[in-house]
Amino acid sequence: MALNMDAIGKPIGPMKRDYTWKDAVLYALGIGAGFPELDYCYEKNLKVIPSFSIAMIFDFLSQAAIASGVNLAGILHGEQELIFHNPIPPEGTLITTGKIVDYYDKGENKGALIVAESDTVHANGQKLFTNIITIFGRLDGGFGGKDRKKAPVEFPDREPDFVVEASPSPDQPLLYRLSGDIFHLHVDPEFAKMAGFDMPIMHGLCTHGFACRALVASLVPGRPERVRRFACRFSKPLYPGVPIKTLIWKTADDKAVWRTVNAENGQVAIDNGEFEYGDIPKDEIRFDGRVAVVTGAGAGLGRVYALELAKRGAKVVVNDLGGALDGAGGGSSSPADRVVEEIRAAGGEAVANYDSVATADGGEAIVKTAMDAFGTVDILINNAGILRDKSFVKMEPNNWQAVLDVHLKGAYNVTRPAFAVMKEKGYGRIIMTTSAAGLYGNFGQTNYSAAKMGLVGLMNTLKIEGKKYDIKVNTVAPIAASRLTEDVMPPDLFAKSKPEFVSPLVLYLCSDRCPVSGNIYNAGMGFFNRAAVVTGPGKVLAKEDQIPSPEAVMASLKEISTLSGGKVYRDLNAQVGDALMAFQSPAAAASDSDPPGFSSVAAVFEAMPDAFVPEAAAGVEVVFQYVISGDDGGEWNCTIKGGSCTVDAGGHNCPTCTLKMADGDFLKMMNGRLPPMQAYTSGKLKIEGDIMKSQLIEKLFKLN
Ligand code: NAI
Repeated sequence: MALNMDAIGKPIGPMKRDYTWKDAVLYALGIGAGFPELDYCYEKNLKVIPSFSIAMIFDFLSQAAIASGVNLAGILHGEQELIFHNPIPPEGTLITTGKIVDYYDKGENKGALIVAESDTVHANGQKLFTNIITIFGRLDGGFGGKDRKKAPVEFPDREPDFVVEASPSPDQPLLYRLSGDIFHLHVDPEFAKMAGFDMPIMHGLCTHGFACRALVASLVPGRPERVRRFACRFSKPLYPGVPIKTLIWKTADDKAVWRTVNAENGQVAIDNGEFEYGDIPKDEIRFDGRVAVVTGAGAGLGRVYALELAKRGAKVVVNDLGGALDGAGGGSSSPADRVVEEIRAAGGEAVANYDSVATADGGEAIVKTAMDAFGTVDILINNAGILRDKSFVKMEPNNWQAVLDVHLKGAYNVTRPAFAVMKEKGYGRIIMTTSAAGLYGNFGQTNYSAAKMGLVGLMNTLKIEGKKYDIKVNTVAPIAASRLTEDVMPPDLFAKSKPEFVSPLVLYLCSDRCPVSGNIYNAGMGFFNRAAVVTGPGKVLAKEDQIPSPEAVMASLKEISTLSGGKVYRDLNAQVGDALMAFQSPAAAASDSDPPGFSSVAAVFEAMPDAFVPEAAAGVEVVFQYVISGDDGGEWNCTIKGGSCTVDAGGHNCPTCTLKMADGDFLKMMNGRLPPMQAYTSGKLKIEGDIMKSQLIEKLFKLN
């Protein structure tokens, strides 16, 4: 049976798992804890060993294997990575959702790799951990797919800083299996013989648990909640009762590498171990497990985006041609290399790419660099840029074309292959870089302004095409000190405009917390605001079939031009719809007194955090889930807790109440043209869950 290619990107779950302190203690005993680590074994002040997480998601692991179509007779647990976002409480309900991310082909008779990823959230709404599992399918190689090249973990050339010895009992698997992995290989002597072993073998994940205890005891003693990341590759099985040693090398203040060996013969049982630790910042935006491509990242803004993304866990492709300000010259690899070195020196992961964005081949090669090095692309920042300023008559075709090639065509060239990867996996974040010169105009920059406004058009349609696949496309208009601006910016402004003041917005728009798509933001010096194409209400001049005269236009220019009551349209259809409506109700359409209102459903949720009234939220803890149908619809959830409000796109796993409505009705209600009670009694608004809590909404938000 071949691997199921259609399964890539399809959601697996949500899967629900209730657990109590007894499950956490049973797991701790299963991985060798006892009286010396009473904190893990006694319900009084119980602490949960981080690797318990994996025991809580066995269902996901088996569902992923089944969905992939891998030949189950040949599967082995290849690699395991756990990223911890918050400490695991001693009891509760866990909700796990994930997907198969990709397959890799090691070749005929060499096997295949199935990579799956999941996120687990506690019913209290806290995201607890991300799991990235690599299943090795011994019998599935040679399907014609790509291979994965992954650099092995580098171990220091010295004795380990810690060696933790342990002696799993000969009966260890009998206890460990009670935590969920009841595969016969670990209990049934006959089955083990059929599988080619002398007796039942240890669960690889049981040894993994022993290693986790050893790392916590050595690096964060008594503070398992400080573990941030725990990754490894399984190498060789062990028989129960065989003593083991976990060897640990500290490589930075908050990082270590490790392996676990068979203490009798020195064979490595678990290899390529990585361990990261530190305090978990509240509500931190992270990019662990994400792959970002930043074009023109050898200098200026791109360099800062790349460094900041890597600092927060992203693996980064640093693209830069290394050319002159005007794009002339053959280019140089050194700007990109320098940034890669900076990222690596800070403990991050990055690779360089020197291709030009200005050709289709270059764009393909940039994305291929990400695929070869890291296996995917989650984030693309189209940032590369050059300038060739001249007043219009002096703007020869070569200067016009060169600027359009880098900015506009460049974004097309890289975005197209990246978009294909994102569409396949059902996730993506894309940034276009426009400029105030394009949005508002600037003398001597016709080529640049045209290219930069072209990028806004590209975003406008891409946001529509990407919506179904959770691909969000936004545009930033930066102001920053760089070689591009050093000749044109006044020195005091130049000094205040470090690119670091732009990157917070760009990072947020690149994150999975970003709910908006199709927006343009100005960003510079720490000041941020939104820019948009606003369309005024206008006036109908045609009477019946009569074509209006130019003089009629002249006479009505004021009404035609006014932006009072203007709207930001989500797409062409919304604008055409309003134009047609204007004929049905010309008086209303031409009125200056129309309330501006929200023009899209997304705009309502974007405005919600600002409209939140903290005083009305004392003691309130609720999650409102909105399910809005129609072309403009989608899902958003809004969590009120501790006097603050967070709004996220997508479904919440445990909403207090769910409000369902069609997009048009929802906008009418939010724009004050449909009273909520009337919406509810007429059936336009459906509420599931705790209906009483939904009545709080009017008090909690002042939206109009
Ligand atoms: P920068 O010149 O410091 O960085 C641009 C980078 O792009 C350079 O390292 C360059 O080698 C690279 N590059 C140029 N052509 C390339 C190509 N064909 N392929 C790959 N890389 C290429 O400039 P800065 O200021 O950091 O600009 C970044 C982006 O922000 C540009 O798109 C620019 O137009 C835009 N922008 C910047 C503003 C500012 O105030 N700095 C204002 C408005 C927009």
